[in-house]
Parts: sequence; C-alpha cells; structure tokens
Amino acid sequence: MTQSPWQLAARAETMNPSAIREILKITERPGILNFAGGLPSPETFPVDAMRAACAAVLAEGSAVARPSLQYAASEGLPELRQWVAAELGRQGARVVPEQVLITNGSQQGLDLVAKVLLDAGSRVLVETPTYLGALQAFTPMQPRFDSVDSDDGGVTASGLREQLQKGERPRFVYLLPNFQNPSGRTQDEARRQQVIAVCREHALPMVEDNPYGELWYDQPPPAPLLARWPEGVIYLGSFSKILAPGLRLGYVVAPPSLYPKLLQAKQAADLHTAGFNQRVVAEVIRDGFLDRHVPTIRARYKTQRDAMLAALAHHLDGLGAVWTQPAGGMFIWVRLPEGLNAQTLLPAAVEAGMAFVPGAPFFAGQSDVRTLRLSFVTSTPAQIERGMAALASVVRAAMSGTGSGSGA
Ligand SMILES: Cc1ncc(COP(=O)(O)O)c(C=O)c1O
Repeated sequence: MTQSPWQLAARAETMNPSAIREILKITERPGILNFAGGLPSPETFPVDAMRAACAAVLAEGSAVARPSLQYAASEGLPELRQWVAAELGRQGARVVPEQVLITNGSQQGLDLVAKVLLDAGSRVLVETPTYLGALQAFTPMQPRFDSVDSDDGGVTASGLREQLQKGERPRFVYLLPNFQNPSGRTQDEARRQQVIAVCREHALPMVEDNPYGELWYDQPPPAPLLARWPEGVIYLGSFSKILAPGLRLGYVVAPPSLYPKLLQAKQAADLHTAGFNQRVVAEVIRDGFLDRHVPTIRARYKTQRDAMLAALAHHLDGLGAVWTQPAGGMFIWVRLPEGLNAQTLLPAAVEAGMAFVPGAPFFAGQSDVRTLRLSFVTSTPAQIERGMAALASVVRAAMSGTGSGSGA
C-alpha cells in the first residue's frame, strides 16, 4: 500500500465531528421519544405558501432573463435586505439594507465572522454554556476560547470584567441574548444594559446570534444589543425557525466598516446564497405572511413548553434536579442531582425509551457533566409526559445505584 499523498492543513486537524451528531446516532432508534434533536417542528413549515411562491417565482421572467435561476448578487436579494432592515427597525435598531448580507443560514454568518476576525491564537469570549455550532465554526481559525462566568441571565458583567483583565484583548464576545441554545435562558433588560456598558467601556465588540428571538411565549424579549451599540455589534438572524431550516436562509448585519470584508469572504465561499430560495421567501413574506404565521408557531411551542415544565415538575420533584424556565425558544436545560453524569445516563434513558443531549459538548471550558438539553418542540404533550416519566425513572435508578449514570 502506498502512503496517502494528502497532507491535512493544521486547521483541518482541529475540525471534529459534531459531538451531538455522534450522540444523536444512539438516539435514532425507532419508537424512541426523542428530545435530543434541535430541529423545528415540521408541522410549522408553510408548505402551501411555499408551493404557491415557487410557482410564482418560476413564472417570472422569460427565456431572455430568468432571475430566479440566474447567478445573483453576493449581498443578497434587495427585497430581503430591506425586510431585514425594516424588521430590526421595528425592534429599535437603526439598520440600512446596505448593512445586510444574506447568508446560507446564520451558521454561514458564524463562519464568515470567524474568517474575517480571527487569527490563530486570537481570544474569543463565549457564554457558559454556549452554542456548539459556533464553537465548531470558530475552531478552524484556531482561536483560544475563554468561557465567561454566566448565570440564568447569560454572561455576568463581573465575569466579562474578569476576562478582560486577563491576557490579550479578545477579538469579540459571542452572545445569545434570547432563549439561548442550549439553556433556553434570556438576558433581561438590566443585564443587557450592564453587558453593553462593560463592552463599550473596554471597546469589546459583540457577535449577537438571535435565531430564536421571534419564538417568545410570554412577551417579546428586550431590544437587541445591536440597537444599543450599532458600531460594536455584528448581528446574526435566520429564517430557519420562523419558516424552514431547509431553505438555508439567514443574514448578517454588520457595521459599514466591516461589511466589505464579510462580503469578500462570502464571495470567496459561495458567490451568493441561492437566488431561487431568496426569491421564494421574498414572495412568501411579501404581504405580511409572517405576522400571521409566527403566532401559530408560538402558540404550538408554548403548549409544548408548558407541558414539559409541568411534567418535569411532576416527575423530577424532590430528586434534587434543577431546570431552566425558558420564556421562548426550543430548549430546557436540566442539571441532574449531584453525583450523576448525563453522558453515562444516556444509554439507560434510551433503554427506557427517551433521549436527550448531554450538556458537556456545549462548554468551551470546564464542562458540567450533570447538565443535559431537552427540546420540547417536536413531541406532543402526551409524549412529553411519558418521556419525562422515563427520565425520572432512570434518574431514580442511578441515584439508588441500580442504574448507570452515577459517578460524576
Ligand atoms: C444559536 C444558533 N445559532 C445559529 C444556528 C444556525 O441556524 P441556521 O444556520 O439554520 O440559521 C442555530 C441552529 O440551530 C442555533 O441554535
């Protein structure tokens, strides 16, 4: 056998399969009550509106010019850029369409931000825990992650200050102010003001990732960080959770000084986001469709959230576990009783008929092995009730030493 002629780049050596994808393989047994995934409910995908929009878009143009099937501008479709600017304007942020770059999901936004802002060894501050997909997107640039002390309201002002006193100035802090993935937590108004004050004082830029902001169940979240420090924030948004993730449509809103570099990175990556998908979405949302559609998603997910909170309270009561009370989004974050390990508990949970995601991969620094993430949006209230009963049974067994999962 000859030796492989390929030599990997150092950055490729740093790439890892998503820990979650590996874990999800064990949870993909037929019949399992699956709370592990991070997928929106397919029942919310607006199939009829998409079908009509596809037909309308394909009927546009002629043999001379078929814009939906032609190469398109790297910046994105003007109608969508205008929609994003107007939408953020409604939330108190002053944005012009020229600041909006349409991307292949907000995940591509994370990749472009990393390419433009990170060198090998650059410091990046992240929440504790944080979105695993962002760690994956940033890692190939070989930065150094520092986890900022966080509580139920996200990063604390003192945690930020502590990190700012250490070592080299971080390139940015990556923040998820609304219904965070994985924890479901939200930064309240007071916390946003404190965080902005520290970041402005230290000229620490922020990357604000907000794919879940529209999925609020009690009241809309406070204004985005972007509204408070426009030149210090890169904002990422997505159509994945309000229309459908398969469209791969998201956006980056960048200060004018940074926009050209992000645009060049986008051009190099893929020339532009699929023009057909952009035109279909522009057609779907043209007449205020989202104002009618998103409330139906909220109503559905709120019922599921309430069912999961009630089932957790009923079944895990008195066992010493704690969990978040998300005001929106898709996830609840559970911390198991002392001495238990979510990763080692998972096989027993799958045996008992339910699956969750262990929390450890969501930590950039020291992991908390007692944590796990539950998604409530793809199960019915009856399935949620059965799933939480199963979870409680394996927790009880592990605590009495009759099951796996003990020994943190
Ligand atoms: C916090 C966060 N950011 C970004 C993304 C990527 O979303 P998309 O690329 O579908 O817009 C996700 C997906 O689940 C997410 O949870």
